[in-house]
Amino acid sequence: MNKLIINTEVTKGHISKDIQGQFSEHLGRCIYGGLYVGEKSEIPNENGMRKDVVKALKDISLPVLRWPGGCFADEYHWQDGIGPKETRKKMVNTHWGGVTEDNSFGTHEFFELCRQIGCDTYVNGNVGSGSVREMNEWVEYMTFEGLSPMSTLRKENGSEAAFPLKYFAMGNEPWGCGGNMTAEYYANEYRKYQTYVRQYGKQKIFKIAAGANAGDYHWTETLMKNAGQFIDGLSLHYYTVPHDWQHKGSALGFNEKDYYETLKKTLFMDELITRHSAIMDQYDKDKRVALVVDEWGTWYDVEEGTNPGFLYQQNSMRDAMVAALNLNIFNKHCDRVRMANIAQLVNVLQAMILTEGPRMLLTPSYFVFKLFKAHQENELLDSHMLTGEIEAEGVKLPAVQESCSLDSEGAVHITLVNPGLKDTQVVTIETNGLHPSHVVGRMLSGPMDGHNTFDDPDQIADQPFVSFTTTRHGLIATLPPCSVVHVHLAVK
Ligand code: AHR
Repeated sequence: MNKLIINTEVTKGHISKDIQGQFSEHLGRCIYGGLYVGEKSEIPNENGMRKDVVKALKDISLPVLRWPGGCFADEYHWQDGIGPKETRKKMVNTHWGGVTEDNSFGTHEFFELCRQIGCDTYVNGNVGSGSVREMNEWVEYMTFEGLSPMSTLRKENGSEAAFPLKYFAMGNEPWGCGGNMTAEYYANEYRKYQTYVRQYGKQKIFKIAAGANAGDYHWTETLMKNAGQFIDGLSLHYYTVPHDWQHKGSALGFNEKDYYETLKKTLFMDELITRHSAIMDQYDKDKRVALVVDEWGTWYDVEEGTNPGFLYQQNSMRDAMVAALNLNIFNKHCDRVRMANIAQLVNVLQAMILTEGPRMLLTPSYFVFKLFKAHQENELLDSHMLTGEIEAEGVKLPAVQESCSLDSEGAVHITLVNPGLKDTQVVTIETNGLHPSHVVGRMLSGPMDGHNTFDDPDQIADQPFVSFTTTRHGLIATLPPCSVVHVHLAVK
């Protein structure tokens, strides 16, 4: 028996919609084939963007998209991706499969994609192999409205208006693929590069410093101490790898032990955020600087028969549980975590969407984002889950995990996760005097390796949740094994 007490009168922070952000890199078939097929493709498209994919992303209210990498960002030279497509310079994508990148998707195409989706933009600049001038000119190209060399070039390339750039990052993983720098060296580089990211437009550019690799607390400490005053957001990367980096494990061929260990590893995100935030608090007690978890999600061995550099993996109910557990964690830390970007949007790592030529399927992770979108821009509610632990295959997990929020109309939203594979979990929910006029729910549930295929794309999808009864104090909900539930308590 579990009890959830929601203090509906106490809010604990604003849940930025950008916590549900996504990441799209020039990697494998994420951009090419997944999002962009070109104007001449037989696959239905608008200005080259797949219509089916754009529609699916609008349906989950995708709030913000990060581009062009990842490791790719530190080898990307933006001037190669503008102007007539036939004459754009080709390059080798050294990180991801050594394939030829023809640069047919560049700055204009990225902003066009975001316009069609209706989402905000997060561009990652090149520190590793770029220059201060190159970055400075890119920002001028994107955001300067008046007369200047770069705005003139943008206009010649077809965009009279400046682009709505919201977030801009100085480099990616400078401790690794982004230049193998020390924290001290990068902190200085960050200070220099960000100086020349000029504020031209009305929308303030939110400057992001590349942050720690998982538990590298020295990195966070050094960045906050040496460059904190110039940083709006500091990033954090943490991937959930079931085994180890050499033998990550398979996306589908896994057993119950692998399942529980994967979820245990993903819950480490809570400790990571808590500890990085505590360091940030020492330098920034008012929490001005956001923690931006701009790469997270599962990373398995690539699907057999696919290019090892393309990081293509299937996506099952296990991934859905990973997504839900993390989104609840981010909600609970919304005072510091103000953006997160799961890796990656289409056909790469923990994807929302998989495509094969003209065909497209929505993954179990996609449906988790669909359930959680009700939290976007809400206020986090004070809530306490009195629950036990389940112990399976030598792994202990909380029996139920949750987060709760209040929307602008006074309705309460609860997302609940039952990670256990055997038992249903009954949760008595007390809403502290709030009497809902109407309760509706939706849920996602299935076998741990349940997934969708191109031939059978509707195996796993969200469905109505009706296993609840209302009581004088709230409601009692019964969660099936391996499930994610969203309950909406409306008030008149
Ligand atoms: O998401 C795949 C890669 O993982 C990114 O390019 C890099 O930043 C990280 O190591």
